[in-house]
Amino acid sequence: MANLLIRGGTVVNADRAFRADVLCQDGKIIAVGEGLQAPTGATVVDAGGQYVMPGGIDPHTHMQLPFMGTVAVDDFFTGTAAGLAGGTTSIIDFVIPSPQQSLLEAYHTWRGWAEKSAADYGFHVAVTWWSEGVREDMGTLVQQEGINSFKHFMAYKNAIMCDDETLVNSFKRALELGAMPTVHAENGELVFLLQKEVAAMGITGPEGHPLSRPPMVEGEAANRAIAIADVLGVPIYVVHVSCIEAAEAIARARARGQRVYGEVLAGHLVLDDSVYRHPDFATAAAHVMSPPFRPTGNQEFLWRGLQSGNLQTTATDHCVFCAEQKAAGKNDFTKIPNGCGGIEERLAVIWDAGVNSGRLTPSEFVAITSANAAKLFNIYPQKGSVSVGADADLVVWDPQGSKTLSSKAQHSKGDFNIFEGRTVRGIPSHTVSQGELVFVQGDLRAVQGKGRYIKRPAFGPNFTATKLRSESLTPTPVAR
Ligand code: URP
Ligand code: ZN
Ligand code: ZN
Repeated sequence: MANLLIRGGTVVNADRAFRADVLCQDGKIIAVGEGLQAPTGATVVDAGGQYVMPGGIDPHTHMQLPFMGTVAVDDFFTGTAAGLAGGTTSIIDFVIPSPQQSLLEAYHTWRGWAEKSAADYGFHVAVTWWSEGVREDMGTLVQQEGINSFKHFMAYKNAIMCDDETLVNSFKRALELGAMPTVHAENGELVFLLQKEVAAMGITGPEGHPLSRPPMVEGEAANRAIAIADVLGVPIYVVHVSCIEAAEAIARARARGQRVYGEVLAGHLVLDDSVYRHPDFATAAAHVMSPPFRPTGNQEFLWRGLQSGNLQTTATDHCVFCAEQKAAGKNDFTKIPNGCGGIEERLAVIWDAGVNSGRLTPSEFVAITSANAAKLFNIYPQKGSVSVGADADLVVWDPQGSKTLSSKAQHSKGDFNIFEGRTVRGIPSHTVSQGELVFVQGDLRAVQGKGRYIKRPAFGPNFTATKLRSESLTPTPVAR
Protein backbone atom coordinates (compact mmCIF):
# COMPACT_ATOMS: atom_id res chain seq x y z
CA MET A 1 0.00 0.00 0.00
CA ALA A 2 1.40 3.44 -0.88
CA ASN A 3 2.39 5.89 1.81
CA LEU A 4 0.38 8.98 2.59
CA LEU A 5 1.97 12.09 4.10
CA ILE A 6 -0.24 14.83 5.50
CA ARG A 7 2.02 17.83 5.73
CA GLY A 8 1.93 21.16 7.51
CA GLY A 9 -1.25 20.83 9.56
CA THR A 10 -2.05 21.15 13.25
CA VAL A 11 -2.69 17.75 14.78
CA VAL A 12 -5.56 17.84 17.25
CA ASN A 13 -5.92 15.08 19.78
CA ALA A 14 -8.23 15.02 22.78
CA ASP A 15 -5.34 15.98 25.08
CA ARG A 16 -3.47 18.58 23.00
CA ALA A 17 -2.96 20.26 19.65
CA PHE A 18 0.47 20.65 18.00
CA ARG A 19 2.06 21.33 14.63
CA ALA A 20 3.08 18.05 12.99
CA ASP A 21 3.11 16.07 9.79
CA VAL A 22 1.47 12.64 9.80
CA LEU A 23 2.87 9.71 7.83
CA CYS A 24 0.69 6.67 7.12
CA GLN A 25 1.62 3.28 5.77
CA ASP A 26 -0.30 0.03 5.42
CA GLY A 27 -3.36 1.52 7.08
CA LYS A 28 -1.51 2.70 10.19
CA ILE A 29 0.06 5.95 11.35
CA ILE A 30 3.81 5.31 11.37
CA ALA A 31 5.16 8.77 12.25
CA VAL A 32 3.90 12.03 13.73
CA GLY A 33 6.34 14.93 13.87
CA GLU A 34 7.65 18.07 12.26
CA GLY A 35 9.56 18.00 8.99
CA LEU A 36 8.75 14.40 7.97
CA GLN A 37 10.12 13.41 4.55
CA ALA A 38 7.77 11.92 1.98
CA PRO A 39 8.93 8.40 1.00
CA THR A 40 9.29 7.80 -2.74
CA GLY A 41 5.90 7.45 -4.37
CA ALA A 42 4.01 8.78 -1.35
CA THR A 43 0.86 10.80 -1.83
CA VAL A 44 1.23 14.18 -0.15
CA VAL A 45 -1.67 16.22 1.20
CA ASP A 46 -1.00 19.86 2.03
CA ALA A 47 -2.79 20.55 5.32
CA GLY A 48 -1.45 24.09 5.77
CA GLY A 49 -3.92 26.17 7.77
CA GLN A 50 -5.94 23.07 8.59
CA TYR A 51 -6.42 20.65 11.47
CA VAL A 52 -5.58 16.96 11.29
CA MET A 53 -7.88 15.06 13.62
CA PRO A 54 -8.91 11.45 14.29
CA GLY A 55 -11.74 10.49 11.96
CA GLY A 56 -15.10 10.73 13.66
CA ILE A 57 -16.57 7.71 15.40
CA ASP A 58 -20.35 7.61 15.33
CA PRO A 59 -21.25 5.23 18.17
CA HIS A 60 -24.96 5.16 17.31
CA THR A 61 -26.23 4.33 13.81
CA HIS A 62 -28.92 2.09 12.33
CA MET A 63 -28.05 1.16 8.75
CA GLN A 64 -30.79 -0.76 6.90
CA LEU A 65 -32.63 -1.29 10.17
CA PRO A 66 -35.93 -3.17 9.85
CA PHE A 67 -38.13 -1.02 12.08
CA MET A 68 -41.81 -0.13 12.45
CA GLY A 69 -42.86 -2.11 9.40
CA THR A 70 -40.23 -0.78 7.02
CA VAL A 71 -36.45 -0.69 6.52
CA ALA A 72 -34.12 2.30 6.91
CA VAL A 73 -32.98 3.38 3.44
CA ASP A 74 -29.28 3.90 4.04
CA ASP A 75 -27.57 0.53 3.95
CA PHE A 76 -24.10 -0.13 5.31
CA PHE A 77 -22.50 1.14 2.10
CA THR A 78 -24.48 4.33 1.49
CA GLY A 79 -24.59 5.18 5.19
CA THR A 80 -20.88 4.73 5.84
CA ALA A 81 -20.01 6.45 2.55
CA ALA A 82 -22.05 9.46 3.68
CA GLY A 83 -20.12 9.31 6.96
CA LEU A 84 -16.78 9.38 5.11
CA ALA A 85 -17.93 12.46 3.17
CA GLY A 86 -18.44 14.16 6.52
CA GLY A 87 -15.22 12.98 8.19
CA THR A 88 -16.64 10.02 10.11
CA THR A 89 -14.50 6.93 9.59
CA SER A 90 -16.07 4.39 11.99
CA ILE A 91 -19.51 3.53 13.20
CA ILE A 92 -20.92 1.35 15.93
CA ASP A 93 -24.29 0.09 14.70
CA PHE A 94 -26.87 -2.02 16.54
CA VAL A 95 -27.81 -5.66 16.14
CA ILE A 96 -31.47 -5.76 17.22
CA PRO A 97 -32.84 -9.29 17.60
CA SER A 98 -36.60 -9.70 17.50
CA PRO A 99 -38.06 -10.93 20.78
CA GLN A 100 -37.49 -14.71 20.97
CA GLN A 101 -34.77 -14.55 18.30
CA SER A 102 -31.32 -15.79 19.25
CA LEU A 103 -28.78 -13.01 19.71
CA LEU A 104 -26.18 -14.93 17.74
CA GLU A 105 -28.51 -15.48 14.80
CA ALA A 106 -29.32 -11.76 14.64
CA TYR A 107 -25.64 -10.90 15.05
CA HIS A 108 -24.69 -13.02 12.04
CA THR A 109 -27.48 -11.44 9.98
CA TRP A 110 -26.15 -7.94 10.75
CA ARG A 111 -22.56 -9.05 10.08
CA GLY A 112 -23.69 -10.18 6.64
CA TRP A 113 -25.45 -6.88 5.90
CA ALA A 114 -22.42 -4.91 7.03
CA GLU A 115 -20.00 -6.60 4.64
CA LYS A 116 -20.72 -3.86 2.11
CA SER A 117 -19.58 -1.16 4.55
CA ALA A 118 -17.13 1.43 3.19
CA ALA A 119 -15.81 2.34 6.66
CA ASP A 120 -14.82 0.34 9.71
CA TYR A 121 -17.67 -0.75 11.95
CA GLY A 122 -18.58 -2.54 15.15
CA PHE A 123 -21.83 -3.53 16.84
CA HIS A 124 -23.70 -3.10 20.07
CA VAL A 125 -26.13 -6.02 20.50
CA ALA A 126 -29.62 -5.34 21.86
CA VAL A 127 -31.12 -7.56 24.52
CA THR A 128 -34.83 -7.51 23.78
CA TRP A 129 -35.91 -10.52 25.86
CA TRP A 130 -34.48 -12.89 28.43
CA SER A 131 -33.72 -16.59 28.60
CA GLU A 132 -30.87 -18.92 29.45
CA GLY A 133 -30.01 -18.90 25.75
CA VAL A 134 -29.71 -15.11 25.73
CA ARG A 135 -27.40 -15.36 28.73
CA GLU A 136 -25.19 -17.86 26.88
CA ASP A 137 -25.23 -15.86 23.65
CA MET A 138 -24.05 -12.77 25.53
CA GLY A 139 -21.05 -14.79 26.69
CA THR A 140 -20.26 -16.02 23.19
CA LEU A 141 -20.58 -12.53 21.76
CA VAL A 142 -18.17 -11.05 24.29
CA GLN A 143 -15.68 -13.90 24.44
CA GLN A 144 -15.55 -14.83 20.76
CA GLU A 145 -17.04 -12.07 18.65
CA GLY A 146 -15.63 -8.82 20.00
CA ILE A 147 -18.84 -7.35 21.36
CA ASN A 148 -18.44 -5.35 24.58
CA SER A 149 -21.72 -3.45 24.84
CA PHE A 150 -25.36 -4.47 25.06
CA LYS A 151 -28.31 -2.20 24.30
CA HIS A 152 -31.63 -2.08 26.12
CA PHE A 153 -34.67 -0.33 24.70
CA MET A 154 -36.81 0.85 27.60
CA ALA A 155 -39.40 2.06 25.04
CA TYR A 156 -41.18 0.60 21.98
CA LYS A 157 -43.72 -1.50 23.91
CA ASN A 158 -45.03 -4.56 22.08
CA ALA A 159 -41.93 -4.52 19.90
CA ILE A 160 -38.34 -4.42 21.17
CA MET A 161 -38.91 -2.95 24.65
CA CYS A 162 -37.31 -4.85 27.49
CA ASP A 163 -38.87 -4.94 30.92
CA ASP A 164 -37.10 -4.45 34.26
CA GLU A 165 -36.59 -8.19 34.71
CA THR A 166 -34.67 -8.31 31.45
CA LEU A 167 -32.76 -5.15 32.33
CA VAL A 168 -31.67 -6.56 35.66
CA ASN A 169 -30.67 -9.96 34.24
CA SER A 170 -28.83 -8.45 31.33
CA PHE A 171 -27.01 -5.77 33.35
CA LYS A 172 -25.87 -8.46 35.79
CA ARG A 173 -24.63 -10.67 32.96
CA ALA A 174 -22.87 -7.71 31.28
CA LEU A 175 -21.06 -7.07 34.55
CA GLU A 176 -19.88 -10.70 34.74
CA LEU A 177 -18.60 -10.46 31.18
CA GLY A 178 -16.96 -7.03 31.40
CA ALA A 179 -19.38 -5.50 28.89
CA MET A 180 -21.07 -2.10 29.00
CA PRO A 181 -24.88 -1.98 29.27
CA THR A 182 -26.42 0.87 27.30
CA VAL A 183 -30.01 2.12 27.39
CA HIS A 184 -32.49 3.96 25.24
CA ALA A 185 -34.10 5.69 28.20
CA GLU A 186 -37.81 6.31 27.76
CA ASN A 187 -40.55 4.78 29.88
CA GLY A 188 -42.36 2.68 27.27
CA GLU A 189 -45.46 2.16 29.43
CA LEU A 190 -45.92 5.91 29.82
CA VAL A 191 -45.37 6.48 26.09
CA PHE A 192 -48.01 3.82 25.33
CA LEU A 193 -50.53 5.47 27.66
CA LEU A 194 -49.79 9.01 26.52
CA GLN A 195 -50.06 8.05 22.85
CA LYS A 196 -53.61 6.88 23.53
CA GLU A 197 -54.44 10.02 25.53
CA VAL A 198 -53.06 12.33 22.85
CA ALA A 199 -55.05 10.46 20.18
CA ALA A 200 -58.19 10.75 22.35
CA MET A 201 -57.70 14.54 22.26
CA GLY A 202 -58.04 14.31 18.50
CA ILE A 203 -54.35 14.91 17.83
CA THR A 204 -53.21 12.56 15.08
CA GLY A 205 -50.43 14.60 13.41
CA PRO A 206 -46.68 14.66 14.14
CA GLU A 207 -47.25 17.33 16.81
CA GLY A 208 -48.59 14.46 18.92
CA HIS A 209 -45.19 12.76 18.94
CA PRO A 210 -43.44 15.04 21.47
CA LEU A 211 -46.66 15.29 23.52
CA SER A 212 -46.58 11.52 23.99
CA ARG A 213 -42.89 11.51 24.97
CA PRO A 214 -42.36 14.45 27.34
CA PRO A 215 -38.95 14.95 28.96
CA MET A 216 -39.92 13.32 32.27
CA VAL A 217 -40.66 10.07 30.40
CA GLU A 218 -36.98 10.07 29.48
CA GLY A 219 -35.89 11.32 32.90
CA GLU A 220 -37.74 8.54 34.70
CA ALA A 221 -36.19 5.82 32.56
CA ALA A 222 -32.71 7.30 32.85
CA ASN A 223 -33.02 7.48 36.65
CA ARG A 224 -34.34 3.91 36.80
CA ALA A 225 -31.62 2.44 34.61
CA ILE A 226 -28.96 4.35 36.52
CA ALA A 227 -30.36 3.12 39.85
CA ILE A 228 -30.41 -0.49 38.65
CA ALA A 229 -26.82 -0.15 37.43
CA ASP A 230 -25.81 1.36 40.77
CA VAL A 231 -27.32 -1.46 42.79
CA LEU A 232 -25.62 -4.04 40.58
CA GLY A 233 -22.33 -2.13 40.46
CA VAL A 234 -22.10 -1.98 36.68
CA PRO A 235 -21.23 1.10 34.60
CA ILE A 236 -23.94 2.34 32.27
CA TYR A 237 -24.06 4.37 29.04
CA VAL A 238 -27.23 6.30 28.22
CA VAL A 239 -27.73 6.81 24.48
CA HIS A 240 -29.25 9.92 22.88
CA VAL A 241 -29.70 12.03 26.02
CA SER A 242 -32.05 14.73 24.81
CA CYS A 243 -33.32 16.69 27.80
CA ILE A 244 -32.45 18.36 31.08
CA GLU A 245 -34.18 15.63 33.12
CA ALA A 246 -31.98 12.84 31.74
CA ALA A 247 -28.79 14.92 31.71
CA GLU A 248 -29.41 15.83 35.34
CA ALA A 249 -29.92 12.17 36.26
CA ILE A 250 -26.49 11.41 34.80
CA ALA A 251 -24.83 14.43 36.44
CA ARG A 252 -26.30 13.54 39.84
CA ALA A 253 -25.12 9.94 39.62
CA ARG A 254 -21.65 11.01 38.52
CA ALA A 255 -21.47 13.46 41.41
CA ARG A 256 -22.13 10.48 43.70
CA GLY A 257 -19.21 8.65 42.11
CA GLN A 258 -21.14 6.33 39.82
CA ARG A 259 -19.71 5.48 36.41
CA VAL A 260 -22.47 6.76 34.17
CA TYR A 261 -21.91 8.02 30.65
CA GLY A 262 -24.13 9.97 28.29
CA GLU A 263 -24.31 10.41 24.53
CA VAL A 264 -25.85 13.38 22.72
CA LEU A 265 -27.06 13.57 19.14
CA ALA A 266 -26.05 16.45 16.87
CA GLY A 267 -29.74 17.02 16.13
CA HIS A 268 -30.69 17.34 19.80
CA LEU A 269 -27.98 19.99 20.21
CA VAL A 270 -29.29 22.36 17.57
CA LEU A 271 -32.97 21.66 16.85
CA ASP A 272 -36.03 22.26 18.99
CA ASP A 273 -39.57 20.89 19.11
CA SER A 274 -41.03 23.61 16.89
CA VAL A 275 -40.22 21.26 13.97
CA TYR A 276 -43.27 19.16 14.89
CA ARG A 277 -45.61 22.10 14.39
CA HIS A 278 -44.54 22.67 10.79
CA PRO A 279 -47.69 23.01 8.64
CA ASP A 280 -46.37 20.53 6.06
CA PHE A 281 -46.93 16.93 7.23
CA ALA A 282 -43.86 15.58 5.41
CA THR A 283 -41.54 18.13 7.01
CA ALA A 284 -42.90 17.58 10.51
CA ALA A 285 -42.91 13.78 10.06
CA ALA A 286 -39.32 13.83 8.78
CA HIS A 287 -38.31 14.99 12.27
CA VAL A 288 -40.13 12.20 14.10
CA MET A 289 -37.55 10.34 16.09
CA SER A 290 -37.30 9.21 19.69
CA PRO A 291 -36.61 10.86 21.98
CA PRO A 292 -38.08 13.85 20.15
CA PHE A 293 -36.46 17.23 19.64
CA ARG A 294 -37.00 19.22 22.81
CA PRO A 295 -38.23 22.68 23.82
CA THR A 296 -35.72 25.52 23.73
CA GLY A 297 -33.44 25.48 26.76
CA ASN A 298 -32.69 21.77 26.64
CA GLN A 299 -30.12 22.26 23.87
CA GLU A 300 -27.97 24.65 25.92
CA PHE A 301 -28.12 22.23 28.85
CA LEU A 302 -26.78 19.46 26.63
CA TRP A 303 -23.93 21.66 25.43
CA ARG A 304 -23.09 22.37 29.06
CA GLY A 305 -23.12 18.65 29.76
CA LEU A 306 -20.54 18.16 27.03
CA GLN A 307 -18.48 21.11 28.27
CA SER A 308 -18.45 19.88 31.85
CA GLY A 309 -17.68 16.29 30.90
CA ASN A 310 -20.92 14.95 32.36
CA LEU A 311 -21.85 13.91 28.81
CA GLN A 312 -19.02 12.35 26.87
CA THR A 313 -19.94 11.40 23.32
CA THR A 314 -21.86 12.63 20.32
CA ALA A 315 -23.62 10.51 17.73
CA THR A 316 -26.38 10.76 15.14
CA ASP A 317 -28.72 7.76 15.57
CA HIS A 318 -28.56 7.80 11.75
CA CYS A 319 -31.74 5.90 10.81
CA VAL A 320 -33.18 7.28 7.62
CA PHE A 321 -36.73 6.92 6.34
CA CYS A 322 -38.02 8.69 3.23
CA ALA A 323 -41.26 10.66 2.91
CA GLU A 324 -43.06 7.67 1.43
CA GLN A 325 -42.20 5.61 4.50
CA LYS A 326 -43.07 8.39 6.94
CA ALA A 327 -46.45 8.66 5.20
CA ALA A 328 -47.47 5.41 6.91
CA GLY A 329 -48.36 7.67 9.84
CA LYS A 330 -50.35 10.26 7.88
CA ASN A 331 -53.39 9.73 10.08
CA ASP A 332 -51.67 8.39 13.18
CA PHE A 333 -48.37 9.82 14.42
CA THR A 334 -47.59 6.60 16.32
CA LYS A 335 -47.15 4.86 12.96
CA ILE A 336 -44.56 7.30 11.58
CA PRO A 337 -41.29 5.34 11.45
CA ASN A 338 -39.01 6.86 14.07
CA GLY A 339 -35.64 8.04 12.82
CA CYS A 340 -33.59 10.81 11.22
CA GLY A 341 -30.24 11.08 9.43
CA GLY A 342 -27.14 13.11 10.13
CA ILE A 343 -24.01 10.97 9.81
CA GLU A 344 -22.57 13.23 7.10
CA GLU A 345 -23.35 16.44 8.94
CA ARG A 346 -22.49 15.61 12.57
CA LEU A 347 -18.91 16.87 12.65
CA ALA A 348 -19.58 20.08 10.76
CA VAL A 349 -22.70 20.91 12.78
CA ILE A 350 -20.90 20.32 16.08
CA TRP A 351 -17.78 22.22 14.98
CA ASP A 352 -19.82 25.17 13.78
CA ALA A 353 -22.18 25.35 16.77
CA GLY A 354 -19.60 24.11 19.29
CA VAL A 355 -16.13 25.34 18.35
CA ASN A 356 -16.97 28.48 16.36
CA SER A 357 -19.27 29.62 19.16
CA GLY A 358 -16.54 29.16 21.78
CA ARG A 359 -18.41 26.40 23.59
CA LEU A 360 -15.72 23.80 22.82
CA THR A 361 -12.00 23.82 22.16
CA PRO A 362 -10.76 21.82 19.16
CA SER A 363 -9.41 19.18 21.56
CA GLU A 364 -12.78 18.95 23.30
CA PHE A 365 -14.32 18.53 19.86
CA VAL A 366 -12.04 15.54 19.22
CA ALA A 367 -12.92 14.12 22.65
CA ILE A 368 -16.66 14.18 21.99
CA THR A 369 -16.57 13.15 18.33
CA SER A 370 -14.10 10.25 18.51
CA ALA A 371 -11.71 9.79 21.43
CA ASN A 372 -14.26 9.36 24.21
CA ALA A 373 -16.30 6.84 22.20
CA ALA A 374 -13.10 4.91 21.47
CA LYS A 375 -12.24 4.86 25.17
CA LEU A 376 -15.72 3.95 26.38
CA PHE A 377 -16.04 1.12 23.87
CA ASN A 378 -12.45 -0.05 24.33
CA ILE A 379 -10.86 0.61 20.96
CA TYR A 380 -8.59 3.45 22.06
CA PRO A 381 -5.96 4.37 20.82
CA GLN A 382 -6.46 2.17 17.76
CA LYS A 383 -9.26 4.62 16.98
CA GLY A 384 -9.74 8.20 18.24
CA SER A 385 -6.08 9.19 18.31
CA VAL A 386 -3.51 10.64 15.93
CA SER A 387 -0.53 8.70 17.22
CA VAL A 388 2.03 6.19 16.02
CA GLY A 389 0.47 2.75 15.78
CA ALA A 390 -3.12 4.01 15.55
CA ASP A 391 -5.30 3.22 12.55
CA ALA A 392 -4.80 5.82 9.83
CA ASP A 393 -8.39 7.06 10.03
CA LEU A 394 -8.13 10.82 9.82
CA VAL A 395 -9.98 13.93 8.84
CA VAL A 396 -8.21 17.01 7.50
CA TRP A 397 -10.40 19.83 8.69
CA ASP A 398 -10.63 23.18 6.96
CA PRO A 399 -11.80 25.64 9.62
CA GLN A 400 -12.48 28.33 6.99
CA GLY A 401 -14.31 26.11 4.51
CA SER A 402 -18.05 26.49 4.58
CA LYS A 403 -21.10 24.94 3.06
CA THR A 404 -24.86 25.04 3.27
CA LEU A 405 -26.32 21.70 4.29
CA SER A 406 -29.06 20.32 2.11
CA SER A 407 -30.74 17.09 1.09
CA LYS A 408 -29.88 18.04 -2.50
CA ALA A 409 -26.15 17.78 -1.82
CA GLN A 410 -26.05 14.95 0.73
CA HIS A 411 -24.69 11.46 0.04
CA SER A 412 -27.29 9.70 2.18
CA LYS A 413 -30.12 8.08 0.23
CA GLY A 414 -32.60 9.98 2.37
CA ASP A 415 -34.78 12.66 0.80
CA PHE A 416 -34.65 15.05 3.76
CA ASN A 417 -31.99 16.80 5.80
CA ILE A 418 -32.84 17.85 9.34
CA PHE A 419 -30.11 20.54 9.06
CA GLU A 420 -31.47 21.86 5.75
CA GLY A 421 -30.36 25.42 5.01
CA ARG A 422 -27.86 25.61 7.87
CA THR A 423 -24.57 27.15 6.74
CA VAL A 424 -21.63 25.70 8.61
CA ARG A 425 -18.05 26.99 8.75
CA GLY A 426 -15.55 24.19 9.30
CA ILE A 427 -15.75 21.21 6.95
CA PRO A 428 -13.58 18.24 6.00
CA SER A 429 -11.27 18.82 3.05
CA HIS A 430 -9.95 15.23 3.09
CA THR A 431 -10.99 12.02 4.83
CA VAL A 432 -8.54 9.16 5.23
CA SER A 433 -9.70 5.63 5.99
CA GLN A 434 -7.18 2.82 6.53
CA GLY A 435 -4.47 5.15 5.21
CA GLU A 436 -6.25 5.89 1.93
CA LEU A 437 -7.88 9.06 0.72
CA VAL A 438 -11.60 8.39 0.52
CA PHE A 439 -12.83 11.97 0.30
CA VAL A 440 -10.88 14.75 -1.41
CA GLN A 441 -12.27 18.28 -1.68
CA GLY A 442 -15.83 17.13 -2.34
CA ASP A 443 -14.87 14.03 -4.34
CA LEU A 444 -16.13 10.92 -2.50
CA ARG A 445 -14.12 7.77 -3.26
CA ALA A 446 -15.80 5.33 -0.87
CA VAL A 447 -15.29 1.69 -1.79
CA GLN A 448 -18.05 -0.81 -1.09
CA GLY A 449 -16.81 -3.62 1.15
CA LYS A 450 -13.60 -1.85 2.20
CA GLY A 451 -14.75 -1.41 5.81
CA ARG A 452 -13.60 -3.94 8.39
CA TYR A 453 -15.39 -5.37 11.38
CA ILE A 454 -13.58 -4.06 14.46
CA LYS A 455 -13.59 -6.38 17.44
CA ARG A 456 -13.88 -4.64 20.78
CA PRO A 457 -12.40 -6.52 23.72
CA ALA A 458 -14.17 -6.93 27.05
CA PHE A 459 -13.23 -4.60 29.87
CA GLY A 460 -10.70 -5.73 32.46
CA PRO A 461 -11.04 -6.73 36.11
CA ASN A 462 -11.49 -3.19 37.43
CA PHE A 463 -14.65 -2.83 35.38
CA THR A 464 -16.88 -3.05 38.47
CA ALA A 465 -17.67 0.60 38.84
CA THR A 466 -19.07 0.82 42.29
CA LYS A 467 -17.26 -1.80 44.26
CA LEU A 468 -18.02 -0.04 47.48
CA ARG A 469 -21.71 -0.12 46.74
CA SER A 470 -21.71 -3.85 46.04
CA GLU A 471 -19.60 -4.46 49.12
CA SER A 472 -22.09 -2.53 51.21
CA LEU A 473 -24.67 -5.06 50.04
CA THR A 474 -22.65 -8.00 51.35
CA PRO A 475 -24.99 -9.61 53.84
CA THR A 476 -23.80 -9.67 57.39
CA PRO A 477 -25.66 -12.24 59.47
CA VAL A 478 -27.34 -10.77 62.53
CA ALA A 479 -26.87 -12.82 65.68
CA ARG A 480 -30.28 -13.27 67.37
O1 URP B 1 -36.14 7.33 16.56
C1 URP B 1 -35.14 6.63 16.62
N1 URP B 1 -34.21 6.99 17.46
N2 URP B 1 -35.04 5.55 15.83
C2 URP B 1 -34.05 4.56 15.87
C3 URP B 1 -34.24 3.61 17.01
C4 URP B 1 -33.80 4.21 18.31
O2 URP B 1 -34.60 4.46 19.19
O3 URP B 1 -32.62 4.45 18.50
ZN1 ZN C 1 -33.13 4.88 20.68
ZN1 ZN D 1 -30.91 4.43 17.87
